[in-house]
Amino acid sequence: MQKIKVKIPASPAASYTIAIGSNFLHTVLAQIKKLFPEKQLFLITDGNVAKTKNLKALLGKENIPKFVITPAGEKSKNIKTVIKIIETMEKQAFGRDTAVIALGGGTVGDMAGFVAAIYKRGVDVVQIPTTTVAQADSAIGGKTGVDSLISKNAFGSFKNPSAVFIDVSTLKTLNEKQFNAGLVESIKHALIADEKYFDFLKKNLNDILARKSKPLEYIAMKNCKIKASVIEEDPFEKNKRRSLNYGHTIGHAVESASNYKFLHGQSVAIGIIAANIIEQKLGLGGKERLEELKDIFEKLKINLEIPKSITKKQILDIISRDKKAVQKWPRFVLLEKTGKVLYRDGQYAHKVERNIVEETIDILINQ
Ligand code: GLY
Repeated sequence: MQKIKVKIPASPAASYTIAIGSNFLHTVLAQIKKLFPEKQLFLITDGNVAKTKNLKALLGKENIPKFVITPAGEKSKNIKTVIKIIETMEKQAFGRDTAVIALGGGTVGDMAGFVAAIYKRGVDVVQIPTTTVAQADSAIGGKTGVDSLISKNAFGSFKNPSAVFIDVSTLKTLNEKQFNAGLVESIKHALIADEKYFDFLKKNLNDILARKSKPLEYIAMKNCKIKASVIEEDPFEKNKRRSLNYGHTIGHAVESASNYKFLHGQSVAIGIIAANIIEQKLGLGGKERLEELKDIFEKLKINLEIPKSITKKQILDIISRDKKAVQKWPRFVLLEKTGKVLYRDGQYAHKVERNIVEETIDILINQ
């Protein structure tokens, strides 16, 4: 037998710029054309965004080829939609010289990013997030993918955007439920990385809920800085990036068990409460924080109740299939204190005994 070693050079380092501001969406298409003068542009959006003034603001009088995902939302976030998008692009002879533009929330951004990752082995993607959840989280960091019938983001890839444009004025078109639920990712960032930011969110909640530009720009900037500092260190989630999954283990399970009737942010809020209960059971403290969080989620009108149709067994089944599970048991990100993730034995995510997790789920179900 002969052996040949193939040496793969380290991927070249890359960087991208996140532009943050208000009322500048009408200038973005010209900026994209300047960034990618040689590229063919293909827009991916969804049926909800297509009805809003955000699409008109982006395009102005121009009309670029596009795919409108319908119905909007998690129901369409599957491989069938990806195939439809790719075939639409192929029919129009889009080549490797394509830049996909994602205009919309997390579902649009995740799907457009995934299409860009796999179309002809990869083309550029520009993210223009228009929801609180996408502006705080999903449009940055390059996680892309679609769900299978069994689990969330089962098909996926890391695909960093080539540019991100966050215009907080686009959030004006969101309904209250979506706007508020998306703020949970900002709360998560504050909890894992910055106590002062947590205090800012508490103090300025009314202005944020009134969708005032300045606090929204401030939180967009904080979210991006916190997330960027984590992914610059650990882009492929070997360890530190796991801290961004705070509240997501039980959160994703509840979201999936609800058949995506629960919004992502609402599910993560439940997951954050779960993490806080676990922290208390492990003697990590945080009793006061748990009450504060419940108070914040009440102000955000987020329903933390788990309906009777969702059982403990269902949640346990789903968490045992978590992508980050080891021997079919998930690892939990926990806080040492507000603004600081527990880092122990060189790890940011930890094994928690089954009885503690079960007791926590019981509390959540019966609260
Ligand atoms: N949403 C978590 C991450 O991007 O890693």
